[in-house]
Amino acid sequence: MSPILEARALYKRFGDFTAVRDVSFEVARGEIFGYLGANGAGKSTTIRILCGLLTPSEGRAIVAGHDVATDPESVRLSVGYMSQKFSLYPDLTAAENLDFFGGAYRIPRKPRLARARELLAEVGLRADDRRPAGALPGGMRQRLALVTALIHAPPIVFLDEPTAGVDPEARRNFWRIIRTLAGEGTTVFVTTHYMDEAEYCARVGLMVDGSLVALDTPSGLKREFVPGRTFALRGRRLPEAALAALPYVRAVEPFGAGLHVRCADDAPGAEALARVAREAGADQPSAEEIAPTLEDVFLAVAGRKAAA
Ligand SMILES: Nc1ncnc2c1ncn2[C@@H]1O[C@H](COP(=O)(O)OP(=O)(O)OP(=O)(O)O)[C@@H](O)[C@H]1O
Ligand SMILES: [Mg+2]
Repeated sequence: MSPILEARALYKRFGDFTAVRDVSFEVARGEIFGYLGANGAGKSTTIRILCGLLTPSEGRAIVAGHDVATDPESVRLSVGYMSQKFSLYPDLTAAENLDFFGGAYRIPRKPRLARARELLAEVGLRADDRRPAGALPGGMRQRLALVTALIHAPPIVFLDEPTAGVDPEARRNFWRIIRTLAGEGTTVFVTTHYMDEAEYCARVGLMVDGSLVALDTPSGLKREFVPGRTFALRGRRLPEAALAALPYVRAVEPFGAGLHVRCADDAPGAEALARVAREAGADQPSAEEIAPTLEDVFLAVAGRKAAA
């Protein structure tokens, strides 16, 4: 089956600033595709190009069968888009918002109301809730913003940091909905700052300063960028430099209140690292071997790019 999305050498320049640089990738139908990167990495700019809202300076992208540069109107009608600032009408109720967006897609009234009722039920919202959207709690507003992006049953939906600023419970709930959507065949393109969420994606693209520097499954990214063994060290006054100087240590990165120490495959183990730390003056150091996370991948990739 042909991919739902194909991007080839996309560039976006704002004046002499390049926000997106030579970005190419494909997304398969029904895939959950994660797009990660720090603030300003170019995630939203890429999404706006792929939704037909922004013309690329160079390159080509076909989304849901339409060319974003030559036929952006067809792209806009074919895709779902949940923007970083959920664009709801705060004075309208949940049902009225859906009705409005459905009307904008020229869905006839009867199927529009049926679809709205079905979508609201799917995400645990009530069609008869009279509260204006602006007065709903964050998690409900977020789910409402999601279903407004789905009212026209698009084959692909773009979610730009959909879980930013909502509590962990709402985030978990939201990801359950995303997985259900993908299971039903909707392709999900999602950006996030939360590395634990990226683990739910089939594949993850990493953006650094406008470039797509890595793209693979979460486990593939870990194998490539965090090879060897990783240890988490805790304790006060951890001696970063002494650890980094060990022959089997490849990298030492601050992680929360402690350190993540990446070592060669033949490293001696957690006990040896704790001993080195203690001898170099650390207060009650402890070490344990951990499975690398995408956060480790991200730090490794960003570090490599900075050193280049
Ligand atoms: N219309 C514009 N004019 C000029 N610069 C822009 C414009 N839109 C975005 N930029 C710049 O392009 C870069 C990428 O922005 P973008 O919004 O794509 O980043 P992002 O990865 O979505 O970041 P965030 O995580 O903060 O949402 C930023 O430096 C931003 O200031
Ligand atoms: Mg953004």
